[in-house]
Amino acid sequence: MEQVRYGIIGIGNMGTGHANYLSAGKIEGAVLTAVCDIRKQRLDWAEETLPKDVAIYDDYKKLLTSGLCDAVIIATPHYLHPVIGMEAFEAGLHVLSEKPIGVYTKKIVEFMEAAKKSGKAFGIMYNQRTNPHYQKMREMVQSGELGELKRCVWIITDWYRSQAYYNSGGWRATWSGEGGGVLLNQCPHNLDLWQWIFGMPNKIRAYCAFGKYHDIEVDDDVTAYAEYPNGATGVFITTTGEAPGTNRLEISGSKGKLVYEAGKLMYTKLDVDEREFCYSTTQGFGLPPMSTTQIECEGHGKQHEGITQNFTNHLLHGEPLLAPGYEGINGLSLSNAMMLSTWKDKTVELPNDGEEFWEELQKRIASSRSKENVVEAVADLSGTYGNK
Ligand SMILES: NC(=O)c1ccc[n+]([C@@H]2O[C@H](COP(=O)([O-])OP(=O)(O)OC[C@H]3O[C@@H](n4cnc5c(N)ncnc54)[C@H](O)[C@@H]3O)[C@@H](O)[C@H]2O)c1
Repeated sequence: MEQVRYGIIGIGNMGTGHANYLSAGKIEGAVLTAVCDIRKQRLDWAEETLPKDVAIYDDYKKLLTSGLCDAVIIATPHYLHPVIGMEAFEAGLHVLSEKPIGVYTKKIVEFMEAAKKSGKAFGIMYNQRTNPHYQKMREMVQSGELGELKRCVWIITDWYRSQAYYNSGGWRATWSGEGGGVLLNQCPHNLDLWQWIFGMPNKIRAYCAFGKYHDIEVDDDVTAYAEYPNGATGVFITTTGEAPGTNRLEISGSKGKLVYEAGKLMYTKLDVDEREFCYSTTQGFGLPPMSTTQIECEGHGKQHEGITQNFTNHLLHGEPLLAPGYEGINGLSLSNAMMLSTWKDKTVELPNDGEEFWEELQKRIASSRSKENVVEAVADLSGTYGNK
């Protein structure tokens, strides 16, 4: 293959962004050959805007079997990611799924099996993994530079969304259409990075509030506590109902501390491991000697285009995937566990077979109400790091 021919399924907010950079030739070795949506307004947009040789479909099955694509980017509502993804693998195509990988982990186990069976490439649009600050934090944690890990706290409360946002699509913020709220729509990036950098916890206790700040069914405010196999702990706090909100990721180890906030990564390095200092010093109140520096990283990464370029390079040249689809289940396990912990008022152990979450979700889907006052809108997400 000399060039990867992409089809995009779902050309709403995010799919339109993918279509724009691909059709503008911004991804080396890639070409946009087809798009698909079920809304006439989006099909009209494609007709008017995209190059004339891009095929336009109103049924994704036709796109999958058109013979025009080597790979698909799936940018539909979340429930459909594994459904369409599995059919794409069946049709012999490579799959780059939008985040989250799906709504419940039970389905993702099937999705991963289908991927494996097909032998095709499987990626996920975790564009924030391209941010060099997160890459540096991961490298420092995993190389042992921070020592024994103690704590990882992420306050990510700057995902502000108004009621108009929730009214902008009939599927949004309903159990039946979306399957979750801030954890499933805004936070997949953060939950993924939380585990990508610090590892997976083995226990989660969480308190989610549903429709606390908006007229919605799903979660819009969450505080979660996590425990890790080595005894470390973590806290994850998020909401779409706070302004201006905070985005602060703090990681503490026995040899120092990393803080990423307001685009700056600060590193406090202890001259001696705190565990050693604790039992060797004769001073009751002294701290280990330390110094703080800013770690300079260039920019915030190539984001969505970076992931699509990496996926293309993987197909053409065997470059390792920065965001393999198989890792999508990790962040989803965390959000499923946070909701289940709230619903059942208990600590949830990980890994988890996902059965109980699925059963609880079905109850909520059964009583999900259809939305009124929907005002459909397509936002320009170009130049954003996530859903912002
Ligand atoms: N990576 C990111 O930074 C990022 C940012 C925004 C959204 N997303 C993800 O992208 C997905 C879509 O979100 P959005 O904000 O673009 O939503 P959206 O509602 O604007 O777009 C979804 C599109 O999918 C279409 N669609 C629905 N069912 C379809 C079907 N069966 N076949 C073809 N098209 C279908 C809809 O008509 C709509 O145009 C979500 O899963 C979301 O989490 C990711």
